[in-house]
Amino acid sequence: MDNQIEEVKKKADIVELIGSYITLKKVGRNYKANCPFHQEKTASFIVSPERQIWHCFGSCGEGGDAIKFMMKWENIPFGEALRELADRVGVKLKRVVYQEDRERIRERLFTLNGWAAHYFQYILWETRFGKHCHNYLVNERQLTPGIIKKFGLGYAPQSWESLTRFLTKKGFSREEAYAAGLVAKNDRQRYYDRFRGRLVFPLKDSRGQIVGFSGRWLGTGTGPKYINTPETPIYHKRETLFGIDLAKEAIKKNNAVLIVEGEFDMIVPYQYGFENVVAIKGAAVTQEQLLFLKRYAEKINLALDTDQAGIEAMKRAIQIAEPTGMEIGVVQLDFAKDPDEAVRKDKDKFRRAFNHPVSFYDFLIDTARKQYPENTAYHKKKISDAIVPYLNHIRNPVIQSHYVRKLAEALEVSTDSLEALMRQRSRSASLSLSEVFPAKAKTRDDRKLSLDKYLLSLVFQSDNPYVLVDTVFAAVTVDDFSLPAHRKIVQAFIDWRHRHPEKFDAPAFCRQLPPELEPVINELFLFATLSESRDEDNEILKDAYEIKRLSLKEQIVHASRETDHPADDRLIADLNSQLRKVEKSLSAL
Ligand code: CTP
Ligand code: MN
Repeated sequence: MDNQIEEVKKKADIVELIGSYITLKKVGRNYKANCPFHQEKTASFIVSPERQIWHCFGSCGEGGDAIKFMMKWENIPFGEALRELADRVGVKLKRVVYQEDRERIRERLFTLNGWAAHYFQYILWETRFGKHCHNYLVNERQLTPGIIKKFGLGYAPQSWESLTRFLTKKGFSREEAYAAGLVAKNDRQRYYDRFRGRLVFPLKDSRGQIVGFSGRWLGTGTGPKYINTPETPIYHKRETLFGIDLAKEAIKKNNAVLIVEGEFDMIVPYQYGFENVVAIKGAAVTQEQLLFLKRYAEKINLALDTDQAGIEAMKRAIQIAEPTGMEIGVVQLDFAKDPDEAVRKDKDKFRRAFNHPVSFYDFLIDTARKQYPENTAYHKKKISDAIVPYLNHIRNPVIQSHYVRKLAEALEVSTDSLEALMRQRSRSASLSLSEVFPAKAKTRDDRKLSLDKYLLSLVFQSDNPYVLVDTVFAAVTVDDFSLPAHRKIVQAFIDWRHRHPEKFDAPAFCRQLPPELEPVINELFLFATLSESRDEDNEILKDAYEIKRLSLKEQIVHASRETDHPADDRLIADLNSQLRKVEKSLSAL
């Protein structure tokens, strides 16, 4: 199996792999991007084609090989990531690998959900129990058979345990069906099929795997209209975007996505050709959902109910989205109850609204003005109180000033007065963005360590490390590096050069290093790419002297601690004279 893992990794070129998900920019021998795994403004995500690794030098600090990237990107365990990658490069795995029990459990749940979906579809299409559900879909919801199939819709019969029996025949225990959320327990501890009597929608992840289900009640009587799979090892409500598996290509292509509330609000526009739509299933947009969508599109448009809950949801969405630089708009479909009804009622009108979202801030101003329509000082105060906190959090000053002026005009007040209010409010910050996006973690590396790392990184990334090294080692020696691992690598490099004086073979050099040095050398192959101003000999020399200077200072401090020894006085004097020389060289540069 290890061989197969190596084979997969060898075939999956890391630059091509990561480049298929995010835009990589070539910098020297490496590639660079904004880290997809945390929020950042300056690119600190580096990919090394030589080492076939990636690393984020920003606050998330993640890194690894191609498989690790897939794990992080898809949020899946090792075995699944390996399989995904193997599929991609056309390697047929001989054996399934599970690194943890968690993977085995997830795998079982996916298979079980697959069978359940199969069962629900069978009932819908092939049995008389599914007849009225089929009629409902075709007549009342006006879905085509093709769409019903494409979304894998089904029907769960009005029975206590017919699904459970079916799953048992397929080799799954009742406990497993319970763990998958397909079976529930009532007050008297009796198990029953959770979705009984409901139209069933499979809920899929972006790769099309069924993570759970939702069910719409079709009968009469009381009870919730929709129910969902509870949280399971594979279903997390906060992350779910209904339709993402079918919509993602269109989202990417349009660089925009429309977020709607309900399953039908996604399916019906999709049937009419509006394919970049996903449903959040309810009114709450989560940070997980928005950050996921940000991978595919910069423009996020919302078509949520414009009731109070919907407006609150939109406000929350903007709080999450604004710091990420996403553009939030609102698609106003006020001629119908929801997007499902809107597209069926008037497709052209729907298209116009769909193609012309209103900016979130315009929407906010409009909404507040509708709520407080009078041209009185009191209503103007109410409106500005409602909107100023949002204006305060617009990061881009041009956009901010645009909307300040707009609000001032709408209220017929001066921009000065609004700005005064904004200053007042920002002190008592009403929106806590820091809770949404915690401040960047402080780096532990001190300056000396970064300099060490940077210098060595420049050496290893240069076209011919042998050339640079002469310049560098005229100024510093092995002992000047703070980290034992760096000292070991430098020593290994010097030894290597003695044995192979012609040309530096990076992969061969890395292979013969002890395994515990691997992460360190990997970092050295990446680190210097962070800085744009590289490859200047002058800079390298400056860096080397600076390291020497700090190293001497450290040594002086160290030696002064034991002044009883007479030898140390001489040592200190010597170190001091060296220090003066280095400082002189530094200022001469
Ligand atoms: N929802 C839910 N649980 C509920 C009610 C609603 O999960 N008890 C989710 C469903 O995904 C639903 C969405 O919220 O599709 C919007 O709910 P609602 O507006 O009440 O229903 P519609 O989508 O209009 O339902 P339908 O079109 O099926 O009548
Ligand atoms: Mn509806």
